Amino acid sequence: MKIGIFDSGLGGLIIAQAIRKMMPEYDYVYFGDTKRVPYGNKSHEAVYEFTKEAVDYLFRKENCAVIIIACNTASARALRQIQQDYLPKNFKDRKVLGVLIPAAEEASKYKKVGILATLGTVASNTFPLEINKLNKNIKIFQNPAPILVPLIEEGEHKLATFFLLKYLRPLMNKNIDALILGCTHYPIFKKEIKKIIPKNVTLISQDEIIPKKLNEYFAKHPEITKKLSKNKSIKILVTDKTQNLEFLVKKWFGKVKINLI
Ligand code: DGL
Repeated sequence: MKIGIFDSGLGGLIIAQAIRKMMPEYDYVYFGDTKRVPYGNKSHEAVYEFTKEAVDYLFRKENCAVIIIACNTASARALRQIQQDYLPKNFKDRKVLGVLIPAAEEASKYKKVGILATLGTVASNTFPLEINKLNKNIKIFQNPAPILVPLIEEGEHKLATFFLLKYLRPLMNKNIDALILGCTHYPIFKKEIKKIIPKNVTLISQDEIIPKKLNEYFAKHPEITKKLSKNKSIKILVTDKTQNLEFLVKKWFGKVKINLI
């Protein structure tokens, strides 16, 4: 059986790449809902519906034993419902994991945390709730950054610094000591972001956290790992062949076949 990685678009390729680097032995399937991206401005109901469809596809058609929802918006809006309603009714013995709690755990080591995320993730308030569950004294400041995802999906990097400054300034004015990149796409701008934020602000980027956490999770769950096949394969599935798709996939994975579903 395989490991599924789901994202609303292509940003999750960064997480997929990081996971695969740490655990290259397994077989992976990446599902990018490129037809319906962005999820960040969609309703709770729509994000749940889209996420459930993707998870269902990965379980039924791709025989995944475990799925990582690499999308923060989907993790914030749909993960709990999938774990509590969908899984017990449909696939009791399989797992769906998110990317939000591992980042919240990391953030709980700091005092003033800034969060840059999509409108949907910010509106769900999931990051502050999860961080304050771990430590209620942490001060949390969120700022939605709705323009960044379209810029990335369109491969448009030149305008990024202007918008990053606009979105980061209010957070820096609060003297944060850590910044969560609360969207799968934002690590693409890590270099630009590091140039803007002061040196004493720690950047919490999920591509640096999730592989380690997943590795730890696997070590504790041999009932999952014993089902995983090990042929070092990666399959990319998308719901629409967008313009810069080939370029981005090639950049992250080299020459890999892209399958339209
Ligand atoms: N992948 C989404 C996330 O991590 C961002 C892109 C979108 O808005 O769909 O929140």
